[in-house]
Amino acid sequence: TPTNQEDEKRHAAATALRWVRSGMVLGLGSGSTSAHFITLLGEKVQAGELQIQATATSQASEALARQLGIPLLEPRRGLRFDLTVDGADELDAQLQLMKGGGGALLREKVLKTASDYLLIIADSSKYVAQLGRFPLPLEVVPFALPWVLDAVEKLGGAPVVRPNQSQPDGLYRSDQGNLLVDCHFKVISEPEQLALQLQAVPGIVEHGLFLGMAQAAVVARGEQAVVVRA
Ligand code: A5P
Repeated sequence: TPTNQEDEKRHAAATALRWVRSGMVLGLGSGSTSAHFITLLGEKVQAGELQIQATATSQASEALARQLGIPLLEPRRGLRFDLTVDGADELDAQLQLMKGGGGALLREKVLKTASDYLLIIADSSKYVAQLGRFPLPLEVVPFALPWVLDAVEKLGGAPVVRPNQSQPDGLYRSDQGNLLVDCHFKVISEPEQLALQLQAVPGIVEHGLFLGMAQAAVVARGEQAVVVRA
């Protein structure tokens, strides 16, 4: 039930607080599980139990963090993160991830790359034997869209441009003003190969496969929180 899933998200988020120490610079993820983490983190900061600084992977997470009084750092050269805590749309036992359901995959990958440690927090529905049931999100430069759609089809995917009815053109825009394309592959049997093929297509700014990037994941299942390590 949705309530159980929400409980699992909160449980995973609460467990992730064990990774946080005062003095750390944190990357804050996007999506509803990350929002639980930011909220719990904000409570610790307000109570004076943790002194941390952070940068967020989306405008939504940044607004939440600011509202909770979490000190925020602007992007700058040399800025590194001790720990980034983020959600995922899918993860497998090898900690291969699919991300971007919330549309924030580009900033998520940027902060991850500037981080010493990526911790994924997820409810049990995200844990899969093989990636691909969730459509793979791509961030795409608008001009390149038609050729990106052709390229995705050639790679065996069924691309759908992500809609947003509240936009004038009916299309979803990322924080960078780009389009999102959700690619239905059903099963992604060779994620490494697909990642390389997608990276080679001009106009695909970034894809939602995060391979060899996470150090650990907390997966909540009912009352349990299982830690998966790479
Ligand atoms: C955001 O772009 C995604 O990568 C999120 O991490 C993902 O969609 C997880 O969201 P939920 O925590 O809401 O499931």
